[in-house]
Amino acid sequence: MENLEPTSPEFRNNAIAIYQRLLREQPVAELSGGRYLLCRHEDVRWALRDHEQVLRPTDWSSARKPPGPFREFGLNNMIAMNPPDHTRFRKAIMRAFAPKQIATLTAFIEAKCDALLDDMAARESGDFIDDFAYPLPVAVICEMLGIPDDNHETLRKGSAAMLAGLELSASEEELARASDGAQTLYDYLHGLVTARAVDLGDDLLSLLLRHQQEDQLTREEVVWAAITLLLAGHETTTHLLGNGLLALIHHPDQLERLAGTPEWTKNAVEEFLRYDPSLYVLFRQTANDVRLDDTDIPAGSILILSLAAANRDPRVFDDPDGLDIARANADQHLTFAGGRHLCAGHAVARLEGQIAFERITRRLTGFELDGEPEAREGLMFKGYHRIPIRYRNRSE
Ligand code: HEM
Repeated sequence: MENLEPTSPEFRNNAIAIYQRLLREQPVAELSGGRYLLCRHEDVRWALRDHEQVLRPTDWSSARKPPGPFREFGLNNMIAMNPPDHTRFRKAIMRAFAPKQIATLTAFIEAKCDALLDDMAARESGDFIDDFAYPLPVAVICEMLGIPDDNHETLRKGSAAMLAGLELSASEEELARASDGAQTLYDYLHGLVTARAVDLGDDLLSLLLRHQQEDQLTREEVVWAAITLLLAGHETTTHLLGNGLLALIHHPDQLERLAGTPEWTKNAVEEFLRYDPSLYVLFRQTANDVRLDDTDIPAGSILILSLAAANRDPRVFDDPDGLDIARANADQHLTFAGGRHLCAGHAVARLEGQIAFERITRRLTGFELDGEPEAREGLMFKGYHRIPIRYRNRSE
């Protein structure tokens, strides 16, 4: 029997194989410390939506963080909140995610993709993360927030440190770095928010500031909300692009199929999201005693929801371990969660993915790895720090 401690390197390195076995034999697995790992699509979907019985584990999450800016972030991060605070934050940001608002980003995303692809085409090799998958989403979220897109190092280091600190396996050192990262981002965003407050526009920061003026968010909460958006909005999308390209490199037939039938790009993006999601697990807590798959789960238990397993549940997806860009029900994946925490930016991430893959496959071909991809560590986030690749221009 494999090691069922999800924070262990053995688990991480064999996650898909372990999830496949659990889906067959033990879809609700009791772990040490009152934690339960849920793998079935039906159970994960239920846990995301049943807000009477399942909540965010707010106290459990913040108890793991040392006092300081990173814990402050945890307490002010809408993703980790329950109502009524969550409702207040969600209402404040959701106007920026209206379909009409998102459509205005199309031209910006297209222009940014083309500029990045011009550089890539000139080189015919490089690191896909540095050359494309990182700069595109960071430019988009900066554009949405109305903040300069010229401070990548501060944003990248600060947010990478904070995301590493969110992992269950975070060491004391990583938590200390997460605190420094939170302070750096807080100072940076605080300066931008203060300047914007006297010069409101129609960007997301201004929208949040308008809500502050209506007494719905404090100035501090505006800064933390902006940090949440920065964090939520770019690295996850980087991994959609990176994991998606890697899936195509490992399935060259699907790459050629996509290049030949660009009208499938929208569906292909759903399949990438299903096949190798940027977030492998989410955490919840039971509010009542519940019974799942003949297992009694007491109130107060931590639920580890495996999105990666649910996305490969054979009860929902035929041949779940195969990559099929034309899969009819690819969009039934749970990669954007669901219920009241449904990813606020899912339409933005989808738009970025669709424009990016349509343009990448139109311009470039012959993708191959040019070295080992460098995977990021941790149970929660799945992606790569580096994906070295070679490719050719399609016109040649
Ligand atoms: C492929 C890219 C993305 C993935 C896989 C993703 C995934 C998720 C997931 C799973 C959650 C729920 C977390 C939980 O309930 O524990 C979430 C929440 C959220 N995401 Fe995304 N996300 C992506 C891109 C984005 C983008 C581009 C933005 C912003 C522009 C964004 C903004 C948010 C926000 C604000 C929340 C909090 C929603 C709430 O708690 O009500 N995300 N995302």
